[in-house]
Amino acid sequence: MIVLGLCGSLRPGSFNLRLLEAAGAALAPGHRLVVFDGLADVAPYVEGATTPPAVARLLEAIAAADAVLVATPEYNASVPGQLKNALDWVSRPFPANALRAKPVAVVGASTGLFGAVWAQAELRKILGTIGADVLDADLPVGRAHGAFGADGGLVDAGLAGRLEALLADLVGRARPPKTGFSQPIQAGQGR
Ligand code: FNR
Repeated sequence: MIVLGLCGSLRPGSFNLRLLEAAGAALAPGHRLVVFDGLADVAPYVEGATTPPAVARLLEAIAAADAVLVATPEYNASVPGQLKNALDWVSRPFPANALRAKPVAVVGASTGLFGAVWAQAELRKILGTIGADVLDADLPVGRAHGAFGADGGLVDAGLAGRLEALLADLVGRARPPKTGFSQPIQAGQGR
């Protein structure tokens, strides 16, 4: 399965990008994390405007993914503006948008003690409003400057375990339903 990684920070050397990379390495075999690299190109949202190419790229990346993992910093106790702006684009048309029913998990890193918990909570609220299938879990990576080891993984074993559990839940939700017990649809039975 493909998990699309969205990083809410545009900063070179972003700890949230490192968190996405750690998540990619922690995914079970058979799954792959692909980081979207075009967030900086997304123009400010204008209601009714034609979809710009950078937004179209984002929509295609979401459509091609089985699940989405968003890593967000916290800016002034909330979600960075560029990430919120991109999600406003993605939310339209409503309700039939690209994130509708898509499994999404939120993680976050900050240099402060609390690991962007407020931003993560706000982001889950935004994603739920958009209609995504949002995991009711967070991963607060505080003191991010010391949180990653030389191998790129999370130093704290508890956090590393939480990341693995979150990823397993995310991928599990994206799994297509088993069809073994279903009967073939007869002519005239389709909805
Ligand atoms: C921050 N930072 C921050 N951290 C936090 O825990 N709570 C906050 O409210 C804020 N507010 C805030 C505002 C602005 C404008 C900046 C630039 C930074 C610190 C922030 O979490 C830290 O810089 C992270 O390292 C940013 O994430 P990346 O870029 O490393 O992914």
